[in-house]
Amino acid sequence: MNLKSIRALSFAVALFLGVLLSSPLWAQAQQLERNSLAQTPPMGWNSWNKFACKIDEDIVKSVADAIATNGMKEAGYQYVVIDDCWQISRDENGFIVADPKTFPSGIKALADYVHSKGLKFGLYSDAGTKTCAGRPGSQGHEYQDALQYARWGVDYLKYDWCNTGTRNAEEAYSTMSNALLATGRPIVFSMCEWGTAKPWLWAKGIGNLWRTTGDISDKWSSMKKWPDGGCCEYGWTDILDLQVNLYPYAGPGHWNDPDMMEVGNGGMTVPEYRAHFSFWALLAAPLIAGNDVRSMQPEIKEILTNSEVIAINQDPLGREGHRVWKEGDLEVWSKQLNDGSRSVILFNRGTSENEISVSWDQIGYPNHLPAKVRDLWAHKDLGSFDGKYSAKVPGHSVVMVKITP
Ligand code: GLA
Repeated sequence: MNLKSIRALSFAVALFLGVLLSSPLWAQAQQLERNSLAQTPPMGWNSWNKFACKIDEDIVKSVADAIATNGMKEAGYQYVVIDDCWQISRDENGFIVADPKTFPSGIKALADYVHSKGLKFGLYSDAGTKTCAGRPGSQGHEYQDALQYARWGVDYLKYDWCNTGTRNAEEAYSTMSNALLATGRPIVFSMCEWGTAKPWLWAKGIGNLWRTTGDISDKWSSMKKWPDGGCCEYGWTDILDLQVNLYPYAGPGHWNDPDMMEVGNGGMTVPEYRAHFSFWALLAAPLIAGNDVRSMQPEIKEILTNSEVIAINQDPLGREGHRVWKEGDLEVWSKQLNDGSRSVILFNRGTSENEISVSWDQIGYPNHLPAKVRDLWAHKDLGSFDGKYSAKVPGHSVVMVKITP
Protein backbone atom coordinates (compact mmCIF):
# COMPACT_ATOMS: atom_id res chain seq x y z
CA MET A 1 0.00 0.00 0.00
CA ASN A 2 1.47 3.37 -0.93
CA LEU A 3 1.43 6.50 1.23
CA LYS A 4 -1.51 7.96 -0.65
CA SER A 5 -3.76 4.95 -0.11
CA ILE A 6 -2.72 4.71 3.59
CA ARG A 7 -3.75 8.36 4.00
CA ALA A 8 -7.02 7.72 2.19
CA LEU A 9 -7.72 4.67 4.36
CA SER A 10 -6.92 6.56 7.60
CA PHE A 11 -9.21 9.37 6.49
CA ALA A 12 -12.03 6.91 5.73
CA VAL A 13 -11.61 5.18 9.14
CA ALA A 14 -11.57 8.55 10.96
CA LEU A 15 -14.63 9.69 9.05
CA PHE A 16 -16.46 6.44 9.84
CA LEU A 17 -15.62 6.69 13.57
CA GLY A 18 -16.60 10.36 13.64
CA VAL A 19 -19.97 9.64 12.07
CA LEU A 20 -20.52 6.61 14.33
CA LEU A 21 -19.63 8.35 17.58
CA SER A 22 -21.80 11.36 16.87
CA SER A 23 -24.78 9.38 15.60
CA PRO A 24 -27.98 8.92 17.58
CA LEU A 25 -27.44 5.14 17.24
CA TRP A 26 -24.21 5.35 19.21
CA ALA A 27 -25.85 7.56 21.83
CA GLN A 28 -28.59 4.99 22.13
CA ALA A 29 -26.15 2.11 22.49
CA GLN A 30 -24.36 4.06 25.24
CA GLN A 31 -27.66 4.77 26.90
CA LEU A 32 -28.65 1.12 27.03
CA GLU A 33 -25.55 0.44 29.06
CA ARG A 34 -26.25 3.32 31.42
CA ASN A 35 -26.82 1.27 34.52
CA SER A 36 -26.77 -2.42 35.22
CA LEU A 37 -29.16 -2.19 38.16
CA ALA A 38 -32.43 -4.06 38.72
CA GLN A 39 -31.40 -7.16 36.77
CA THR A 40 -34.31 -8.74 38.63
CA PRO A 41 -37.38 -6.70 39.66
CA PRO A 42 -36.50 -4.33 42.54
CA MET A 43 -37.87 -5.28 45.97
CA GLY A 44 -38.51 -2.89 48.83
CA TRP A 45 -41.01 -0.68 50.61
CA ASN A 46 -42.55 2.70 49.77
CA SER A 47 -44.34 5.05 52.15
CA TRP A 48 -47.20 6.26 49.93
CA ASN A 49 -49.89 3.55 49.98
CA LYS A 50 -50.06 3.50 53.78
CA PHE A 51 -48.82 6.90 54.97
CA ALA A 52 -49.36 9.25 52.01
CA CYS A 53 -48.19 12.73 53.12
CA LYS A 54 -48.09 11.79 56.81
CA ILE A 55 -44.53 10.52 56.64
CA ASP A 56 -41.59 11.40 58.88
CA GLU A 57 -38.11 10.20 59.74
CA ASP A 58 -39.21 8.17 62.79
CA ILE A 59 -41.61 6.12 60.67
CA VAL A 60 -38.93 5.55 58.02
CA LYS A 61 -36.38 4.48 60.65
CA SER A 62 -38.76 2.09 62.37
CA VAL A 63 -39.80 0.63 59.01
CA ALA A 64 -36.12 0.02 58.19
CA ASP A 65 -35.70 -1.62 61.64
CA ALA A 66 -38.70 -3.86 60.93
CA ILE A 67 -37.55 -4.90 57.45
CA ALA A 68 -34.08 -5.68 58.80
CA THR A 69 -35.43 -7.96 61.54
CA ASN A 70 -38.79 -9.44 60.47
CA GLY A 71 -37.58 -11.69 57.66
CA MET A 72 -38.26 -9.24 54.81
CA LYS A 73 -34.60 -8.38 54.30
CA GLU A 74 -33.71 -12.08 54.08
CA ALA A 75 -36.59 -12.54 51.63
CA GLY A 76 -34.99 -9.92 49.34
CA TYR A 77 -36.63 -6.58 50.26
CA GLN A 78 -33.94 -3.97 49.89
CA TYR A 79 -35.07 -0.43 49.02
CA VAL A 80 -36.73 1.78 51.65
CA VAL A 81 -38.29 4.57 49.60
CA ILE A 82 -39.83 7.82 50.87
CA ASP A 83 -42.56 8.96 48.48
CA ASP A 84 -44.02 12.47 48.22
CA CYS A 85 -43.96 15.13 50.98
CA TRP A 86 -40.42 14.88 52.34
CA GLN A 87 -39.44 18.14 50.55
CA ILE A 88 -40.61 21.64 51.42
CA SER A 89 -38.69 24.34 49.49
CA ARG A 90 -35.43 25.28 47.79
CA ASP A 91 -32.59 27.20 49.43
CA GLU A 92 -31.06 30.42 48.07
CA ASN A 93 -28.86 28.36 45.73
CA GLY A 94 -31.73 26.30 44.45
CA PHE A 95 -30.94 23.13 46.38
CA ILE A 96 -33.94 21.09 47.53
CA VAL A 97 -34.70 21.32 51.26
CA ALA A 98 -36.27 18.57 53.36
CA ASP A 99 -39.19 19.51 55.63
CA PRO A 100 -37.45 20.37 58.94
CA LYS A 101 -40.56 19.51 60.96
CA THR A 102 -40.86 15.93 59.72
CA PHE A 103 -37.22 15.25 58.77
CA PRO A 104 -35.30 17.29 61.38
CA SER A 105 -32.13 15.18 61.14
CA GLY A 106 -31.97 15.66 57.38
CA ILE A 107 -31.98 13.19 54.53
CA LYS A 108 -28.28 12.29 54.70
CA ALA A 109 -28.63 11.09 58.31
CA LEU A 110 -31.69 9.07 57.37
CA ALA A 111 -29.96 7.48 54.38
CA ASP A 112 -27.01 6.61 56.63
CA TYR A 113 -29.42 5.01 59.11
CA VAL A 114 -31.11 2.90 56.43
CA HIS A 115 -27.69 1.87 55.07
CA SER A 116 -26.56 0.89 58.58
CA LYS A 117 -29.35 -1.71 58.53
CA GLY A 118 -27.92 -3.26 55.37
CA LEU A 119 -30.70 -1.76 53.25
CA LYS A 120 -30.83 0.77 50.43
CA PHE A 121 -32.45 4.19 50.44
CA GLY A 122 -34.84 5.82 47.98
CA LEU A 123 -36.47 9.21 47.43
CA TYR A 124 -39.25 10.67 45.29
CA SER A 125 -39.43 13.68 43.00
CA ASP A 126 -41.41 14.85 39.99
CA ALA A 127 -40.60 15.96 36.44
CA GLY A 128 -42.88 18.98 36.76
CA THR A 129 -42.74 22.25 38.67
CA LYS A 130 -44.50 20.66 41.64
CA THR A 131 -45.02 17.13 42.90
CA CYS A 132 -48.51 15.62 42.98
CA ALA A 133 -48.86 16.78 46.60
CA GLY A 134 -47.75 20.30 45.64
CA ARG A 135 -44.17 20.15 46.94
CA PRO A 136 -41.29 21.49 44.78
CA GLY A 137 -40.66 19.39 41.66
CA SER A 138 -37.37 18.92 39.80
CA GLN A 139 -38.13 20.70 36.52
CA GLY A 140 -35.16 22.94 35.72
CA HIS A 141 -33.21 21.53 38.69
CA GLU A 142 -32.58 18.00 37.43
CA TYR A 143 -28.77 17.97 37.59
CA GLN A 144 -28.71 19.87 40.87
CA ASP A 145 -31.22 17.47 42.46
CA ALA A 146 -29.41 14.39 41.15
CA LEU A 147 -26.16 15.76 42.60
CA GLN A 148 -27.83 16.33 45.96
CA TYR A 149 -29.36 12.84 45.99
CA ALA A 150 -25.95 11.32 45.26
CA ARG A 151 -24.36 13.35 48.07
CA TRP A 152 -27.05 12.14 50.44
CA GLY A 153 -26.52 8.50 49.45
CA VAL A 154 -29.73 7.90 47.52
CA ASP A 155 -29.91 4.50 45.75
CA TYR A 156 -33.37 4.73 44.11
CA LEU A 157 -35.39 7.61 42.66
CA LYS A 158 -39.12 7.45 41.95
CA TYR A 159 -39.92 10.25 39.50
CA ASP A 160 -43.54 11.34 39.11
CA TRP A 161 -45.41 13.17 36.33
CA CYS A 162 -47.68 15.80 37.95
CA ASN A 163 -47.58 19.48 36.86
CA THR A 164 -45.54 18.78 33.74
CA GLY A 165 -47.69 20.93 31.41
CA THR A 166 -46.81 20.23 27.79
CA ARG A 167 -43.46 18.63 28.62
CA ASN A 168 -42.51 15.63 26.49
CA ALA A 169 -42.19 12.52 28.64
CA GLU A 170 -39.25 10.97 26.81
CA GLU A 171 -37.30 14.25 27.07
CA ALA A 172 -38.17 14.76 30.73
CA TYR A 173 -37.27 11.24 31.84
CA SER A 174 -34.10 11.21 29.69
CA THR A 175 -32.98 14.46 31.30
CA MET A 176 -33.25 13.09 34.82
CA SER A 177 -31.81 9.75 33.72
CA ASN A 178 -28.76 11.56 32.30
CA ALA A 179 -28.49 13.67 35.45
CA LEU A 180 -28.46 10.56 37.64
CA LEU A 181 -25.86 8.97 35.39
CA ALA A 182 -23.68 12.09 35.60
CA THR A 183 -23.45 11.71 39.40
CA GLY A 184 -21.55 8.44 38.98
CA ARG A 185 -23.65 6.88 41.78
CA PRO A 186 -25.70 3.80 40.85
CA ILE A 187 -29.32 4.91 41.32
CA VAL A 188 -32.31 2.83 40.25
CA PHE A 189 -34.59 5.07 38.19
CA SER A 190 -38.29 4.41 38.71
CA MET A 191 -40.45 6.27 36.21
CA CYS A 192 -43.95 7.14 37.37
CA GLU A 193 -45.60 8.44 34.22
CA TRP A 194 -48.75 6.28 34.63
CA GLY A 195 -48.43 4.77 31.15
CA THR A 196 -49.85 7.85 29.42
CA ALA A 197 -47.09 8.11 26.78
CA LYS A 198 -46.66 4.30 26.56
CA PRO A 199 -43.19 4.25 28.20
CA TRP A 200 -42.81 0.53 27.49
CA LEU A 201 -42.18 1.55 23.85
CA TRP A 202 -39.25 3.89 24.58
CA ALA A 203 -38.07 3.81 28.19
CA LYS A 204 -35.75 0.80 28.12
CA GLY A 205 -32.31 2.32 28.73
CA ILE A 206 -33.82 5.43 30.32
CA GLY A 207 -35.50 3.96 33.40
CA ASN A 208 -35.25 0.65 35.22
CA LEU A 209 -39.01 0.47 35.72
CA TRP A 210 -42.00 2.42 34.51
CA ARG A 211 -45.51 2.66 35.85
CA THR A 212 -48.02 1.31 33.35
CA THR A 213 -51.24 2.72 34.87
CA GLY A 214 -52.74 5.23 37.27
CA ASP A 215 -52.66 4.66 41.00
CA ILE A 216 -53.58 1.40 42.69
CA SER A 217 -56.02 1.36 45.61
CA ASP A 218 -56.56 -1.22 48.33
CA LYS A 219 -59.44 -2.88 46.49
CA TRP A 220 -60.18 -5.95 44.39
CA SER A 221 -61.68 -3.75 41.67
CA SER A 222 -62.89 -0.18 41.49
CA MET A 223 -62.52 1.89 38.28
CA LYS A 224 -63.78 4.87 40.30
CA LYS A 225 -63.33 8.22 38.53
CA TRP A 226 -61.33 10.95 40.26
CA PRO A 227 -63.22 14.09 41.43
CA ASP A 228 -62.01 15.95 38.30
CA GLY A 229 -63.54 13.27 36.06
CA GLY A 230 -60.18 11.73 35.11
CA CYS A 231 -59.76 7.97 35.16
CA CYS A 232 -59.30 6.22 37.68
CA GLU A 233 -58.76 4.82 41.07
CA TYR A 234 -57.96 1.22 40.17
CA GLY A 235 -58.37 -1.97 42.14
CA TRP A 236 -55.56 -4.45 41.58
CA THR A 237 -57.57 -6.60 39.14
CA ASP A 238 -58.30 -3.50 37.02
CA ILE A 239 -54.55 -2.93 36.86
CA LEU A 240 -53.99 -6.60 36.01
CA ASP A 241 -56.30 -6.23 33.00
CA LEU A 242 -54.15 -3.37 31.71
CA GLN A 243 -50.98 -5.53 31.81
CA VAL A 244 -52.32 -8.17 29.42
CA ASN A 245 -50.36 -7.12 26.32
CA LEU A 246 -47.32 -5.56 27.97
CA TYR A 247 -45.28 -8.70 28.73
CA PRO A 248 -42.97 -8.49 25.68
CA TYR A 249 -41.52 -5.17 26.93
CA ALA A 250 -40.13 -6.33 30.30
CA GLY A 251 -36.73 -7.86 30.93
CA PRO A 252 -33.61 -7.61 33.11
CA GLY A 253 -32.99 -3.93 33.97
CA HIS A 254 -36.30 -2.68 32.54
CA TRP A 255 -39.62 -3.65 34.08
CA ASN A 256 -43.30 -2.84 33.68
CA ASP A 257 -44.49 -1.46 37.03
CA PRO A 258 -48.17 -2.09 37.83
CA ASP A 259 -47.71 0.06 41.00
CA MET A 260 -46.73 -0.61 44.58
CA MET A 261 -48.51 -3.36 46.46
CA GLU A 262 -51.50 -2.95 48.76
CA VAL A 263 -50.98 -6.31 50.51
CA GLY A 264 -51.80 -5.88 54.21
CA ASN A 265 -53.47 -2.46 54.05
CA GLY A 266 -56.78 -3.81 55.33
CA GLY A 267 -59.19 -3.47 52.41
CA MET A 268 -59.05 -7.07 51.18
CA THR A 269 -59.19 -10.63 52.53
CA VAL A 270 -56.10 -12.78 52.99
CA PRO A 271 -56.86 -14.93 49.88
CA GLU A 272 -57.38 -11.72 47.88
CA TYR A 273 -54.00 -10.37 49.03
CA ARG A 274 -52.44 -13.76 48.21
CA ALA A 275 -53.87 -13.45 44.68
CA HIS A 276 -52.58 -9.85 44.36
CA PHE A 277 -49.08 -10.90 45.48
CA SER A 278 -49.06 -14.01 43.24
CA PHE A 279 -49.80 -11.86 40.21
CA TRP A 280 -47.20 -9.23 41.03
CA ALA A 281 -44.69 -12.09 41.26
CA LEU A 282 -45.80 -13.65 37.98
CA LEU A 283 -45.80 -10.27 36.19
CA ALA A 284 -42.13 -9.78 37.17
CA ALA A 285 -43.38 -6.57 38.80
CA PRO A 286 -41.29 -4.63 41.28
CA LEU A 287 -42.23 -6.05 44.68
CA ILE A 288 -42.60 -2.81 46.63
CA ALA A 289 -44.57 -3.39 49.83
CA GLY A 290 -46.93 -0.55 50.70
CA ASN A 291 -48.23 -1.55 54.12
CA ASP A 292 -47.16 -0.86 57.69
CA VAL A 293 -44.57 -3.62 57.90
CA ARG A 294 -43.93 -2.77 61.59
CA SER A 295 -47.23 -4.20 62.74
CA MET A 296 -48.50 -6.70 60.16
CA GLN A 297 -50.46 -9.85 60.99
CA PRO A 298 -48.53 -13.13 60.62
CA GLU A 299 -50.61 -14.17 57.59
CA ILE A 300 -49.67 -10.93 55.80
CA LYS A 301 -45.98 -11.41 56.58
CA GLU A 302 -46.29 -14.97 55.30
CA ILE A 303 -47.58 -13.62 51.99
CA LEU A 304 -44.89 -10.96 51.59
CA THR A 305 -42.07 -13.36 52.51
CA ASN A 306 -43.15 -16.52 50.64
CA SER A 307 -39.74 -17.44 49.24
CA GLU A 308 -41.15 -19.83 46.61
CA VAL A 309 -43.35 -17.11 45.11
CA ILE A 310 -40.59 -14.50 45.38
CA ALA A 311 -38.27 -16.87 43.49
CA ILE A 312 -40.73 -16.79 40.58
CA ASN A 313 -40.58 -12.98 40.58
CA GLN A 314 -36.80 -12.91 40.86
CA ASP A 315 -36.13 -15.60 38.25
CA PRO A 316 -33.00 -14.53 36.34
CA LEU A 317 -34.54 -15.06 32.89
CA GLY A 318 -36.63 -11.96 33.61
CA ARG A 319 -39.72 -12.94 31.61
CA GLU A 320 -43.02 -11.34 32.49
CA GLY A 321 -45.90 -13.82 32.75
CA HIS A 322 -48.98 -13.51 30.58
CA ARG A 323 -52.50 -14.80 30.21
CA VAL A 324 -52.84 -18.00 28.18
CA TRP A 325 -56.54 -18.78 28.71
CA LYS A 326 -59.73 -17.02 29.81
CA GLU A 327 -63.35 -18.05 29.97
CA GLY A 328 -65.65 -15.74 31.91
CA ASP A 329 -64.27 -15.35 35.42
CA LEU A 330 -61.70 -18.13 35.07
CA GLU A 331 -58.17 -17.56 33.80
CA VAL A 332 -54.79 -19.25 33.41
CA TRP A 333 -51.54 -17.24 33.43
CA SER A 334 -48.04 -18.59 32.81
CA LYS A 335 -44.47 -17.35 33.27
CA GLN A 336 -41.47 -19.04 31.69
CA LEU A 337 -38.56 -19.61 34.07
CA ASN A 338 -34.82 -19.85 33.56
CA ASP A 339 -34.70 -23.65 33.93
CA GLY A 340 -37.41 -24.16 31.30
CA SER A 341 -40.14 -24.75 33.86
CA ARG A 342 -43.28 -22.60 34.14
CA SER A 343 -45.04 -20.92 36.98
CA VAL A 344 -48.78 -21.01 36.46
CA ILE A 345 -51.64 -19.19 38.18
CA LEU A 346 -55.15 -20.62 38.06
CA PHE A 347 -57.26 -17.54 38.75
CA ASN A 348 -60.91 -17.43 39.80
CA ARG A 349 -62.33 -13.89 39.64
CA GLY A 350 -65.83 -15.15 40.46
CA THR A 351 -67.26 -15.49 43.93
CA SER A 352 -67.91 -19.26 44.05
CA GLU A 353 -65.48 -22.17 43.81
CA ASN A 354 -64.66 -23.50 40.35
CA GLU A 355 -62.36 -26.08 38.81
CA ILE A 356 -59.69 -24.63 36.53
CA SER A 357 -57.33 -26.64 34.30
CA VAL A 358 -54.08 -25.79 32.59
CA SER A 359 -53.11 -27.98 29.67
CA TRP A 360 -49.48 -28.37 28.71
CA ASP A 361 -50.02 -27.04 25.19
CA GLN A 362 -51.27 -23.76 26.70
CA ILE A 363 -47.88 -23.26 28.35
CA GLY A 364 -45.65 -24.42 25.51
CA TYR A 365 -45.17 -28.11 26.30
CA PRO A 366 -46.30 -31.11 24.26
CA ASN A 367 -49.26 -32.77 25.96
CA HIS A 368 -47.61 -36.21 26.15
CA LEU A 369 -44.89 -34.84 28.45
CA PRO A 370 -45.09 -35.91 32.10
CA ALA A 371 -44.41 -32.94 34.42
CA LYS A 372 -44.09 -32.44 38.15
CA VAL A 373 -46.40 -29.94 39.81
CA ARG A 374 -45.61 -28.07 43.04
CA ASP A 375 -48.06 -25.85 44.92
CA LEU A 376 -46.20 -22.64 45.83
CA TRP A 377 -48.61 -21.57 48.59
CA ALA A 378 -49.12 -25.00 50.18
CA HIS A 379 -45.36 -25.67 49.73
CA LYS A 380 -46.24 -29.18 48.55
CA ASP A 381 -45.21 -31.45 45.67
CA LEU A 382 -48.46 -32.64 44.11
CA GLY A 383 -46.96 -35.41 41.92
CA SER A 384 -46.44 -35.97 38.22
CA PHE A 385 -49.17 -35.19 35.70
CA ASP A 386 -49.70 -35.96 31.99
CA GLY A 387 -51.00 -33.27 29.66
CA LYS A 388 -52.82 -31.12 32.21
CA TYR A 389 -53.30 -30.15 35.81
CA SER A 390 -56.65 -29.20 37.36
CA ALA A 391 -57.52 -27.73 40.74
CA LYS A 392 -60.54 -26.42 42.56
CA VAL A 393 -60.05 -22.69 43.11
CA PRO A 394 -62.22 -20.84 45.66
CA GLY A 395 -63.80 -17.49 44.68
CA HIS A 396 -61.49 -14.44 44.52
CA SER A 397 -58.48 -16.72 44.84
CA VAL A 398 -55.58 -18.29 43.03
CA VAL A 399 -53.79 -21.60 42.96
CA MET A 400 -50.16 -20.96 42.05
CA VAL A 401 -47.96 -23.84 40.95
CA LYS A 402 -44.62 -24.55 39.36
CA ILE A 403 -44.69 -27.07 36.51
CA THR A 404 -41.43 -28.84 35.69
CA PRO A 405 -41.20 -31.42 32.89
C1 GLA B 1 -48.93 10.07 42.15
C2 GLA B 1 -48.21 8.72 42.05
C3 GLA B 1 -48.36 7.99 43.37
C4 GLA B 1 -47.76 8.82 44.49
C5 GLA B 1 -48.42 10.19 44.53
C6 GLA B 1 -47.70 11.12 45.49
O1 GLA B 1 -50.30 9.91 42.28
O2 GLA B 1 -48.74 7.97 41.00
O3 GLA B 1 -47.74 6.71 43.31
O4 GLA B 1 -46.37 8.93 44.29
O5 GLA B 1 -48.42 10.81 43.26
O6 GLA B 1 -48.27 12.39 45.52
